[in-house]
Parts: sequence; structure tokens; C-alpha cells
Amino acid sequence: MTTLELSQVTVRFGGVVAVDGVTLRHDTGGVVGLIGPNGAGKTTLLNALSGVGRLTSGQIRLDGQVVSGLTADKVARHGVARTFQNLQLFGSLTVLENVLVPQLPGHWASALAGIFGLPSGRRMHREVRATAAGLLDQVGLTPYADTVASSLPYGLQRRVEIARALAGRPRVLLLDEPLAGLSRSESVDLTDLFAKLAADGMTVVLVEHDVASVMSVSSRVLVLDRGALLADGTPAQVTADPAVRTAYLGEEE
Ligand SMILES: Nc1ncnc2c1ncn2[C@@H]1O[C@H](COP(=O)(O)OP(=O)(O)OP(=O)(O)O)[C@@H](O)[C@H]1O
Ligand SMILES: [Mg+2]
Repeated sequence: MTTLELSQVTVRFGGVVAVDGVTLRHDTGGVVGLIGPNGAGKTTLLNALSGVGRLTSGQIRLDGQVVSGLTADKVARHGVARTFQNLQLFGSLTVLENVLVPQLPGHWASALAGIFGLPSGRRMHREVRATAAGLLDQVGLTPYADTVASSLPYGLQRRVEIARALAGRPRVLLLDEPLAGLSRSESVDLTDLFAKLAADGMTVVLVEHDVASVMSVSSRVLVLDRGALLADGTPAQVTADPAVRTAYLGEEE
């Protein structure tokens, strides 16, 4: 069981209040959809949750432990992983290597150089490889293990990024627009993967403009509007909320 608690989380950039006093609690697993118009503060909130960006005020706790104020590395060690709005893969490395690299200690280049030399390094390499192979299997990339990442279709590159995020065995996985630029069938396949991860007990926070996909896979949907939480409920509740329909779904009242 994982509990994520945000209290009065606020992030300002100069005069801009990007995230404005967000307070919520989420217990155990499921896909939590996070939607809202451009500039609503979704990425800023993910940055705050992952330690990539600082909070101006407020607090974030994971299973009771305060994680706000920690560096991204430390937050990751607490079990929070993320992907980015823009793909950040090692394009010239294979799919397997992309998943393997972040598991290596220290700077990846020197680590790789050292590892392929010494016997103890080789053994570690085997273990790391086995873990990476398991992750590829989990996201359906086993057939592409030795393919150079940049040569894959975009939808599969997205999976590589997710496999890499899973390498840290996260309890909370933060995804920033993972469906952007995907075909309909790629979106459906990836959404199925999120459902599977959530069914295994992971909390998957899904930031996405594809509202239909969010509604189909989420057990809870949060709507941000100008940094503040406008709505919070099941997909049905949020879809029916007049404030959401006016502010976000663009409907006339
Ligand atoms: N580093 C920054 N410096 C200054 N302002 C920023 C910075 N990052 C974000 N902002 C501002 O904070 C607000 C929220 O931006 P954010 O990127 O979090 O929105 P978003 O909901 O992710 O939007 P999108 O759907 O377009 O990705 C915007 O007004 C944005 O211009
Ligand atoms: Mg964003």
C-alpha cells in the first residue's frame, strides 16, 4: 500500500503561480489521470512530485515520509519514477542498453567502461542484463532488445522510456503525455500497459491531453485549471462536473 499526500503544494515562477495550493491524498495503486488545459501546471506538478522542480511552499509525503525538498535522485530512491514530455533516450544505444544504463552505478559512461572489463563487473553485468530483460518483457519489447532505440517507431520508443523508468521498481510512476504523437492503436496498447502496471499495485499518474484515453483507464481523475485543483473524482463524476465542462471541455452552459 502506497500513500501519496500533497498538502498545499504551491510552485511559483516569479509572478506566475504554476501550481496553486494543491492538497490531495491518494491510497494504493490505480491510474490517476491528471488533465487540464495548456499551462495548467501539470508538468510543474510532476516536476514537484519527482524532485525535478522545487516547491515554493507546501509538502509532499510518500507513505508518511516527506519527499518534497529532496533531490530527484533521492526521490527516485523513495520509489518515484517518471518519464518526460519530450523523449529522453540514448538514441544510438540498443533498447536493452537504454534500460540497462540507469541501473548502473555512477556516471554511465565510466560505469559501462569498467563493467565490461573485470570478472566481478561481468557478473554484475549479467544480473543487470537479466533485470533489464525482465523489464523489456514487462513492456512487450523483448523482440526489440538489440534494436537501436532511434530506429524504432515512436510508439515503441515511448515503451523504452517507460521500461527505463520501471528499472527503479517504482511505487509511483509519473507519465507526462506518454500518448502524444501516437497512433490510435499505439495509444490503446500503451493504455493497456498502464492498466496492467496499476493492477500490479503501482500508482500511475497519467498527465495527458487525450481525455478519452485518460477517462478509459483512470480510476481517479484530477483536473487542474490555472494551477488549482478544479475537480477530483471518478471519470464519470469529472465528466459530469459543470465546472469542468465549462472550463476545460469547452462546453457552453
Ligand atoms: N521554468 C519555468 N519558468 C517560468 N515559468 C514556467 C516555468 N515552467 C512552467 N512555467 C509556467 O507555469 C505554468 C504551468 O506550466 P506547465 O508546463 O506546468 O503546464 P502544463 O499543464 O504542463 O502545460 P502543457 O499541457 O502545455 O504541457 C505556465 O504558465 C508556464 O508558462
Ligand atoms: Mg506539460
